[in-house]
Amino acid sequence: MKVLAFNGSPKGEGGNTDLLLRPFLEGMREEGAEVELFYLNRLRIRPCNGRFTCWTKTPGRCVHDDDMTSLYPKLAEAEVWVLATPVYVDGMTGTLKVMLDRMIPLVQPYFELREGHCRHPLREGVKGGKVALVATCGFWEKDNFDPLLVHVRAMCRNVGREFAGALLRPHGGGLKLLLRLGLPLDELFGACREAGRRLVREGRIPEELERKVAEELMPLDQYVEAANAIFRAALEEGEVPDL
Ligand SMILES: Cc1cc2nc3c(=O)[nH]c(=O)nc-3n(C[C@H](O)[C@H](O)[C@H](O)COP(=O)(O)O)c2cc1C
Repeated sequence: MKVLAFNGSPKGEGGNTDLLLRPFLEGMREEGAEVELFYLNRLRIRPCNGRFTCWTKTPGRCVHDDDMTSLYPKLAEAEVWVLATPVYVDGMTGTLKVMLDRMIPLVQPYFELREGHCRHPLREGVKGGKVALVATCGFWEKDNFDPLLVHVRAMCRNVGREFAGALLRPHGGGLKLLLRLGLPLDELFGACREAGRRLVREGRIPEELERKVAEELMPLDQYVEAANAIFRAALEEGEVPDL
């Protein structure tokens, strides 16, 4: 099984989203999946210019020749796409969205009806597979993922892929906090790994693992207090907060 993963965090490697993504992909590898991970902050991907030349003048080929060029065949082939992102202003990061906008050469310009809804047919050789989401957010509540979930599920219907589940970690700033305090997060990372294994074996992340990954790390008032203390100290020292 070919898996193509993107981390859309501008912080990229070592960020909160990466802390979940790594064991998840490890679990997939353990089950024999061929996994490729791209940190989008290291790639040069220009925004779509919206002129549809990839549909008309040069069908299937984007006018931009940048790092997206080599990603097209990988996107077309992969059975599973893993989209990893922190929540930015209630959605995915611009970095990830820019990449997704550039997928338009993979579909044809024509309209067709799928389940009674207008869609574009996939170009020949483009697989319809699955999409898994990995996301962290800074606020405490799990509902901060609601708009992102609606978006990613809609995108799946749009591009003819099946939504295969999500690893959502609210109060993501708590991860580094707990790690710094030396508190073990083995169960959480173990659940991410197991989710990867099960996705490969069963085609979906089981709901009990989704719940486990999203479990409360610390009470709301404690989190608010700790986050405020970190920001206060960072502000006083003119430092970058490690959250
Ligand atoms: C520009 C920006 C916008 C953000 N918007 C939200 C938001 O709307 N809701 C939220 O809960 N967290 C928000 N956050 C916090 C991040 O989602 C959180 O810190 C995340 O864990 C960072 O992941 P990373 O370390 O992988 O980049 C925002 C952070 C930034 C920098």
